[in-house]
Amino acid sequence: MLNEALQYAQLHRDSFLTELKDFLALPSVSALPEHKPDIQRTAQWLAEKFTSLGLQNAQVNPTPGHPIVTAEWLEAGPDKPTVLIYGHYDVQPIDPIELWHSDPFKAEVRNDYLYARGASDDKGQAFIYAAVLESFMQTSGKLPVNVKLILEGEEEIGGPSLDPFIESHREQLTADVAVISDTHMLRPDLPCLVYALRGLCYIQVEITGPARDLHSGQYGGAIYNPIQALSEMLASLKDHDGHITVPGFYDKVVPLSEAERKILAQAPFNEQEFMQDAGVNGVWGEKGYTTKEQISARPTLEINGIWGGFTGEGSKTVLPAKAFAKISCRLVANQDHVEIAELLSQHLKQIAPPSVKVEIKRLHGGHGALIKLDSKYMRAAHQVLQQVFDHAPIYEREGGSIPVVATFQKTLGIDSIMLGFGLPDDNLHSPNERFYLPNFYHGIETVIRYFVEIGK
Ligand code: BES
Ligand code: MN
Ligand code: MN
Repeated sequence: MLNEALQYAQLHRDSFLTELKDFLALPSVSALPEHKPDIQRTAQWLAEKFTSLGLQNAQVNPTPGHPIVTAEWLEAGPDKPTVLIYGHYDVQPIDPIELWHSDPFKAEVRNDYLYARGASDDKGQAFIYAAVLESFMQTSGKLPVNVKLILEGEEEIGGPSLDPFIESHREQLTADVAVISDTHMLRPDLPCLVYALRGLCYIQVEITGPARDLHSGQYGGAIYNPIQALSEMLASLKDHDGHITVPGFYDKVVPLSEAERKILAQAPFNEQEFMQDAGVNGVWGEKGYTTKEQISARPTLEINGIWGGFTGEGSKTVLPAKAFAKISCRLVANQDHVEIAELLSQHLKQIAPPSVKVEIKRLHGGHGALIKLDSKYMRAAHQVLQQVFDHAPIYEREGGSIPVVATFQKTLGIDSIMLGFGLPDDNLHSPNERFYLPNFYHGIETVIRYFVEIGK
């Protein structure tokens, strides 16, 4: 079964690529209402694809937001594990479009990279599973494990539909382990096993001062300017050592053990390259932690945007009525995003000068997660990655967020194995997103081997 599937995959690289290009041509941008019909078509496309592969019950499940695609194949038998495959078929918006070197929805290969929106995040990586299932079904007419698939269309907007869907389809989704390809490796020759993800808490703050924009000559000097108030409040959210000052913010953070710090320190990380890539001449972060720890294992608070008052051309002498900011925190496992939003809101209200009004909107949130290192599913992943890439995987904490991992733990009681095949310079969420094609094919080989290994 293994060799036939591997050989099939090897021989069908071109047709896999062609089909992936078709998938990428569907502009499934979840954030923009004008793409709602495209999202629907993409979900439909996937369901048809799964049916044509020989899977059962392929369905486009409507939700209050974007649909969730499910399918399954359970004929491996009760003595074989059931694997829940998760991916997201939605993509980020493409702006600024003028920085793309080719059409984001017309995938183009240049120097071993496939360029398109979603090439790596996550359509290209999710499509690996379609190629794997096809390789088994076309050669032996069956799979080495039972499989359930769930593909969502709201990941990039932190959508609210997935958690209730999982909750209400608990039985249908029961599995022994989940696999997700939506993360990256450190280098093309260095496979990675991500065992932790950060959570996210995203809020918007609105500060209101006077009842309307005022003449700054008539009123200026006697009224607390809401932009001034907001700036002071925001500036106080971190101290000079980079610690977040919101009371209770760190209470539930599990401290990094010395053993874990050692694991993290083993991952190759070059601070000079990190600075160069970011275009900065120095790093700044929480004292007492390495840069690597700051970007993966520690919670953060970042101001994502700030606006208010007069920002047009020229000058307008005005004392504005309102000021706004968007703030998000990356959280680590055990911190509850709802609780953190609450702490942050209370704190902002507490520190605001009495003459302004503070209103807070919660935009979205997701929990972080920590995956057990010593499970048979982790060990099998280690083994096949080592075999395919000829190098033992590096154990990594990912700074980004995939909220479903915590939901699977909480609702289904299963861990997720993150077999990520992206690369750090895939330009996720940016112009010229790309997927390194050798990783696409290595990904297919890895997952074929993985399914055979855990089905033994
Ligand atoms: N695939 C990414 C998560 C990711 C980013 C993994 C970087 C590895 C490296 C995912 O699609 C994503 O972008 N997640 C969002 C969270 C969401 C709630 C908006 C993120 O991390 O900002
Ligand atoms: Mn993703
Ligand atoms: Mn993303």
